[in-house]
Amino acid sequence: MANGPTVRRTVSALRRSLVPFRKAGERIALVPTMGALHRGHLALVREARRRARRVVVSIFVNPSQFAPHEDFGSYPREYKKDITALTAAKVDLVWAPSAEAMYPHGFATRIEPQGAAKAGLEDKFRPHFFGGVATVVTKLFTQTAPYFALFGEKDYQQLRVVTQMAKDLDLPVKIVGVPTVREPDGLALSSRNAYLSVQERATAPTLYRVLIAGAARVKRGEPLEMVLEEARAEIAHAGFGLDYLEARHALTLAPVASRKDGPIRLLVAAKIGKTRLIDNVGV
Ligand code: PAF
Repeated sequence: MANGPTVRRTVSALRRSLVPFRKAGERIALVPTMGALHRGHLALVREARRRARRVVVSIFVNPSQFAPHEDFGSYPREYKKDITALTAAKVDLVWAPSAEAMYPHGFATRIEPQGAAKAGLEDKFRPHFFGGVATVVTKLFTQTAPYFALFGEKDYQQLRVVTQMAKDLDLPVKIVGVPTVREPDGLALSSRNAYLSVQERATAPTLYRVLIAGAARVKRGEPLEMVLEEARAEIAHAGFGLDYLEARHALTLAPVASRKDGPIRLLVAAKIGKTRLIDNVGV
């Protein structure tokens, strides 16, 4: 078997391991993850390898972005499988801190992003989420000092929040968004797909089908609100509990009234059984 990546678990060991890369003038690309890696994550790693000489993948299930009633405890943890996948993907270094290494005793700082983080989408249903993401992502950036950091478009609001945050805080990192990887039937890959029953899995691709059909109708010039209303009804009819289906400005995530207010992104979040799925497409 090929040699696996170096795994580091403390900030000081991580920094020591990054010194030779920096001394050699090698660019680092960071792929932040919470593990349970799937082909979507591996697409981020491939793009990272294309852009930079060195690739660092972080694996950290970040407690501060989960509310007490959410799935932090049951979130899939597949460390051994992840390391096998990252070995095959020729990753240089895995940053896998413990919760204590990331948030030592006495940790008392939280970044609260505004703007796209308060768009009334994910933030409306997970009000603690972007504060937790922004705080851990900022720490991941200062710990690894990457030239590039790669995020999937599947978590579109997160991508916009992190991009704005890096700009606002003058963080010296280029944020790269990578298109969503999908199953052949259109379902966006997600670690949470593992929660779906056979029947839920069969229904799940409806979200993408409805988004794509809605985007085509908006492009043809049909009235936005009518398209959204019909799409919402179709999702509810398929058996989902809909959190939101919205058309937003693709960069600011501000509400839009018609196609001319674009570029537009359609974003959806819905529950099937106990599993909450999100997806989005450009118009
Ligand atoms: O998208 C994720 O997996 C997480 O939100 C991230 C960016 C790794 C921060 O914990």
